[in-house]
Amino acid sequence: MKHFLNTADWTRPELQAMLDDARALKAKPFGDALKNKTIALLFLNNSLRTRTSFDVGARQLGGHAVVLSPSGGMWPLEFEEGARMDGEAEEHVKEAAKVLSRYCDMIGVRAFPKFQDWQEDRKDKILSAFAKYADVPVINMETITHPCQELAHILALQERFEREGRGPLDGKKYVLTWTYHPKPLNTAVANSALMIAAKFGMAVTLLCPSKDYILDERYIAQAEKYSADNGQALTISHDIEEAYRGADVVYAKSWGALPFFGNWAEEKPIRDQYKHFIVDEKKMALTNSALVSHCLPMRRNVKMTDAVFDSASCVAYEEAENRLHVQKAIMKALIR
Ligand code: CP
Repeated sequence: MKHFLNTADWTRPELQAMLDDARALKAKPFGDALKNKTIALLFLNNSLRTRTSFDVGARQLGGHAVVLSPSGGMWPLEFEEGARMDGEAEEHVKEAAKVLSRYCDMIGVRAFPKFQDWQEDRKDKILSAFAKYADVPVINMETITHPCQELAHILALQERFEREGRGPLDGKKYVLTWTYHPKPLNTAVANSALMIAAKFGMAVTLLCPSKDYILDERYIAQAEKYSADNGQALTISHDIEEAYRGADVVYAKSWGALPFFGNWAEEKPIRDQYKHFIVDEKKMALTNSALVSHCLPMRRNVKMTDAVFDSASCVAYEEAENRLHVQKAIMKALIR
């Protein structure tokens, strides 16, 4: 039994096979690959795309989804091993994972960091506990990485470059740019974008305002390894013009600075100095007619201008749609 927790656990050919299947499912959406199968979708955080696309995707393949969330009446869960459960939690993840495995054929988990202590959050305890105790495949629906988003993103780029006759992703200049947001956000999509772009052979630049905004060393190291494997080198830049110049892809995301994790009042005035990292027409004019995207949800005219987001070069809607197709391919791959 294999889980889908992190794309690092899957080879590029294995991921490409899922992307190819996702394209086939996009062309022919309905089937019975998940007939009589049920997926439990556990949401400890909000969602629009993930929740809808998993539910719709399971149904389109003859299956069924059950959505669980604390706000929907689920018992509060305990995730610590050996905890003395005299607090709010009524049920341990051991029981929850094992019981759900008796009803369902897969379990999806969304559990964002608690944003208090990165050394704790980076352990990804909730997802790991479900993977450990479940007797069925577990899918990461976004914790400290977002692997489903990774596949949707890559598929959108492959499709658009192919349609425009611009060739494969290998060697394309890919810029992951930090953007301003009034709140410190999860690093999950940024970690994921860095890894998957490097894994698929692109020349990746991480653009962020200062060294404080460099992502966790684990993901930097993983992206460096993929880059080296593909004859590329990961670049970290704090120079907006240099990063945008000649870019083929610009991916926008905001995240909180890790050195200030849990100490966000101190980070806020620093972050507020970097509102000019917004993706706008002037920056995009420096690129090689770059495709631009965002995972959504996105604050318009804070992270990206309307003119850029609503332009023909933006593939954010394709990427969002592809969540449906890639997740169907992932569920099919896991259920075999
Ligand atoms: N991109 C994404 O995961 O969207 P939701 O948070 O709405 O699910």
